[in-house]
Formats: sequence, structure tokens, C-alpha cells
Amino acid sequence: MSETVPVPDRVRAGSPSKIASRAAYLDAVAHATADPSGYWLHQAWERLQWRTPPTHGLKGDYHSVLERPFTWFDDGELNVTETCLDRHLATRADKTAILWEGDEPGQSRRLSYADLHREVCRAANALAGLGVGKGDRVVIYMGMVPEAAIAMLACARLGAVHSVVFGGFSADSLRDRVADSGAKVLITQDEGRRGGKPVPLKAVVDDALRDQAVDKVLVYRHTGSAVNWTAGRDVWWHEVVPGAGDTRKAEVCNAEDPLFILYTSGSTGKPKGLLHTCAGYLLWVTWTCQVTFDLRDDDVYACVADVGWITGHSYIVYGPLANGATTTMFESIPTYPDPGRYWDLVQRHRITILYTAPTALRALAAYGDGPVKKYDRSSLRVLGTVGEPINPDAWRWYHEVVGEERCTVVDTWWQTETGGHMITPIAPVTATKPGSATLPVPGVLPVVFDGRDHILVGPGEGKLCIAHPWPGQARTVWGDHERYVQTYFTAYKGYYFTGDGVRRDKDGYYWITGRVDDVINVSGHRMGTAEFESALVSADEVAEAAVVGYPHDVKGQGVWAYVVLQPGTVPSHDLPARLNGVCRKVIGAHARVDIFQFVPGLPKTRSGKVMRRILRKVAEGMPESLGDLSTLADPGVVSSIVDGAAQVQR
Ligand code: WT7
Repeated sequence: MSETVPVPDRVRAGSPSKIASRAAYLDAVAHATADPSGYWLHQAWERLQWRTPPTHGLKGDYHSVLERPFTWFDDGELNVTETCLDRHLATRADKTAILWEGDEPGQSRRLSYADLHREVCRAANALAGLGVGKGDRVVIYMGMVPEAAIAMLACARLGAVHSVVFGGFSADSLRDRVADSGAKVLITQDEGRRGGKPVPLKAVVDDALRDQAVDKVLVYRHTGSAVNWTAGRDVWWHEVVPGAGDTRKAEVCNAEDPLFILYTSGSTGKPKGLLHTCAGYLLWVTWTCQVTFDLRDDDVYACVADVGWITGHSYIVYGPLANGATTTMFESIPTYPDPGRYWDLVQRHRITILYTAPTALRALAAYGDGPVKKYDRSSLRVLGTVGEPINPDAWRWYHEVVGEERCTVVDTWWQTETGGHMITPIAPVTATKPGSATLPVPGVLPVVFDGRDHILVGPGEGKLCIAHPWPGQARTVWGDHERYVQTYFTAYKGYYFTGDGVRRDKDGYYWITGRVDDVINVSGHRMGTAEFESALVSADEVAEAAVVGYPHDVKGQGVWAYVVLQPGTVPSHDLPARLNGVCRKVIGAHARVDIFQFVPGLPKTRSGKVMRRILRKVAEGMPESLGDLSTLADPGVVSSIVDGAAQVQR
């Protein structure tokens, strides 16, 4: 059994949090479990800035969701930006809201709450001038510049719905997302920068919009490089935003009005747009950001994710700003200009809370302790991780080398769908175990189903479901409620199915074991194997493809593609690179197959279904445990796949 790591005294000391002791945690769990609707209603009154406070909490459940979304606080009215900005003007107008660290070390900008409020109002006025109003969709395709957060908040100010698309996605992916959301306006920048390299953003937008029109493209100038211009459609940010007026009345929204759409990968080839609504989402991220991290007024908080993913939405923008915190936006990568970058950042800005991904920790640990020890990390108090299971070795490295055992590690399990943290240590409260996400947030009711679909009581391993709605839960899939129901609420009637496997130990601690569906998690990027497969079969040479994940030391999972070529095609040595070029074009720069195995055929049942279980076992290096092969149409194909895999260089 693994060890338990107590919360260091200096982490607990001086916590102003309402949940700063085990007794307070247990009390919150008892209340939120007995009366979730009432508990969260009180929290919503206390933590959010309302125009009209709601009079009730939850309406609906996991049965009625088959017909229509459940709601939280649905007679309340607010504008999300009043919680994130306006209410801080009286108390912390001059406090740094956004601390931006550019791609080059030391290049930084600070925006106070007064600055941010003004910039958001200006951007909102400019967007209104471009025709954006309540309910309209706006796609944001930007890098890590403060203007990305300003753009998101400007949409929220207008009651418009943003859909941020990660700046690594290809033109094809961007076009699909623009089309699916029906966006009127797209906001981008000339170029991004990452690790000393330019990231073409406007050029990709131009490509994406060749056969998908929007009314306007608002372009923020960041690097100053030359861009193509479509007169009548393209508008420079610096020409319309600065003079647009320093105040803007916040649009009054219903609690359940949409706040944003964020696309994420699932089991099919088509990403789904999860819809989050105003009040429930805001409450969830406000509450968890403060409670999990024990966020304090003098903290310098740094979540080094990208705003293009849910982590950036919830824990760079909405959560920290709602709490009046100083939030960092980091444009670069952990290894630029060298693997000391994070620790240099920590030393220079006296960062107290650092939130990153296991894959970055594993990559950095490979350089040894030297680059860490070069810098002063004494300001750190809380070390967070997110995005994938963290192996105990990486956890210990974070705790012992980075934090010198003075900090607590919070391994936060959650998803795009959950809006915010679900199973996580609470920094000043929860004794941790390396590799475990520990215990549920109050009111979150995890349920583990075993192999025979029975609910497990006590320790055991199975599939992770949640028994009751919480305010931050995504309400639907944009334009396709049927798919939302199908994906999350049909496998286990009356429960939300997460898609993850989990083990619960004798202390009730949860250990996430990874996805149990056809989603893979590569360096914290969530991708559907079906997306890779449809990209690969779009290449002329490819007849069929099946893609699975396999364990990878740094990336968590690597991508293994079994490819059947068209008759007569021989796999030339440059074919893998060409096929990866296709994946890059169809999906994006982060979509890369690690291992290509060219096979004579795929293992299929007699009805023609690919037996992915077999392919997964082979890629995991466990060909001895393939299980029952009697339903295969052509068992011979398996031995040739096993033989071929043995030749593959991992
Ligand atoms: C999937 C969700 C959560 C924001 C970033 C990713 C995996 C996430 C953990 C963790 C083990 C984790 C799960 C989950 N995951 N956090 N702490 N331990 N696994 O959001 O892209 O929606 O991916 O990431 O498999 O289902 P996402």
C-alpha cells in the first residue's frame, strides 16, 4: 500500500479558507450530500455577484435529462464579468489581475483589475460595433496573450457565446468548429509564439475561411509579421478597440444562458461542442479554484495551461478572476530557452501556486534536478497537476525536488464536461497519496461500476460515474442534445458516465486509471482514435486504419496506428512522415502518430467490427493476454500483427 503524505504545517498555516480543516470538509460533504440544491444555492448567493439572486438550485435530474437539460439557479440573473471584474474595482482596482509572461524570459506585462475592466469594456464595445449581440457565437483562435482572455470576457460582457479553438488546431478543424457553432465573428492574432517559433494564426484562419464565411475577423497584432488581408471582412484590433469607449454596461443574462462552447474529442470522428452556462459554471470554478488551491489574496497564481483547453477557461480566466486573484498567462513552453523556465518564472514572480500537467513534469524530470535547483522556489506553497494520471515517480519528483517537501501536491481530476475539479485534494486539508486524486469535492458523488455493471461498495476497481448533477456540469452538446444523452447518460441509467476507469482504496481514495473509451490522452491533449483513423484513411495510400494508445514514458500515452495499405502499395520509408502530414493537416500540429505498423489486415469479428481490444493489448506489449480470439473472422491476422509489433522500436 502506498504511503500517505500529510499536509505540511506551512501549507495549513494562516489559511483564510472556509474549508481549511478536516472537520469543515466533512461538514461541507454532509451538507452538500444531504441537500445539494440548497447547499449550492447558498454558495451561489455568497460567492457570485447577482443582478437578481436565484430562489432555487437544481431543477431536473439524470432521468429528465433525456428530454431536456437540468438547470441550476434558473430564475437568477447576472453577468459573469461583474463577478470577475466590476466587483473588484472597489477593493483591488490596482492589484494585478493578469500577469503575462511572454515567450522570451523576462518579457512581461501586467494588467490591473482596473486595466482589465477597461480593456474588456473597450473590446465589448468594438465587438458590438461589429454586430455581436447576446447569444451570438464568436470563435477565438489565439495564442497565450492577455487579449485572448480579454476577448473571452468581452463576449461574456455582451452575453455572446465564445468558442475558443486551441491555436494548434489545423484549418480543417477550425473550419468545422466555426461551421458547427455558427459563429458570426472570429477573433485571432497575426501570429503566436511558442518556444522561439512563430505560430501562424491569421494564415490558418484565412485557410479555414476559404469555404466557410464569417462576417468579421478581428485581428490582434502581436508579432507584427505581414498577414494577408480580406478587405471588408478583416479588422485590426488596434484600429477599433482602443477608441471604443472605456465602459460598457454588462448585459443581464439568465443563469442558464450559454457562456461558452468548447469542443472536445470523443469516441467518434466528430468533436462535440460542450455547452457551459453562466451561473453554474462560474460558481463551480470560483468555488473550486479558491477551495482546492486555498487561493489567498496575496497569492501569485500560475496555471501554465493554454486558454484553448478547459483548464485555461476555468483556472486561468474565470476561476482566478472571480476570486480577485493575480493570474499568470504564460506564452512559452517548459523547455524554452532551457528546462529551467518554469523555475525561473517562479523565482522572478514569486509564484505561490503552480498548476501544470504530469507530461511537463516527466519531460522536465528527465533533465535531472539541476535546472530546478538553480532557482529559488521558496515562494511555492501549492503544486497542482491536471490532465492525466500522474505516476508516483513524477508525483514524488514534484513534491520532493520542486517543492522540497514544503508544498502540498493537488492532483485534480476533472474534465471538459465537468467544468471544474471533481476529485482532488483540498490543499490545507487533504493528506495526499502519490498518484491518487484523493477525495471528491463536497457534493460530488462518485460511483464505481464493476465489470458486471454492479455498483461497488468499498474498495475495488471499475468505471467511474457520478450520481448527481453539480452546478458546473456541461448542460448539453451544442446543437445535439441527443448526442449528449447518448454519450453520457445511457451506459448507466441515472448516472453520468465519465469515460474513465478508477480504483477506490480502503481509505476511500480514488486512483484514476485512464480512459476506458476510444479517447486517448497524449501529453494531456485529449484526442479521439476515430479522428486519427478518419484522417489516415483520407490518404490515398491507406485502405484501413485502427489507432490505439500505448503507454509512453513522457507523453503518458503514445499513438499507435495499425495501417492497411491499398493493394499494391509498398510502405516507402517516407510514408510515416507523409501520413503524419495528413494528420497535422486534418487535425492539428499536436496530432502525431508515434508508431506506424503496416499490417496485412485488421482483426475483425465475423460481422466486420474491428476488435480494438486485441490491438490495444499488442500495443501495450502484452500479446500473451489477448483473451478470447474465437470470434475472429481470420485468426491468422493476429499472429502477423503480433510478429510485426515485436519488430517495432518503441
Ligand atoms: C480527461 C479529461 C481536466 C482538464 C484537462 C483535461 C484525464 C484529467 C486527470 C487527473 C487522471 C485525468 C481523464 C479525463 N484526466 N485530469 N488528475 N488524473 N486523469 O480535460 O481534455 O476534458 O480530458 O483527462 O481521463 O477524463 P479533458
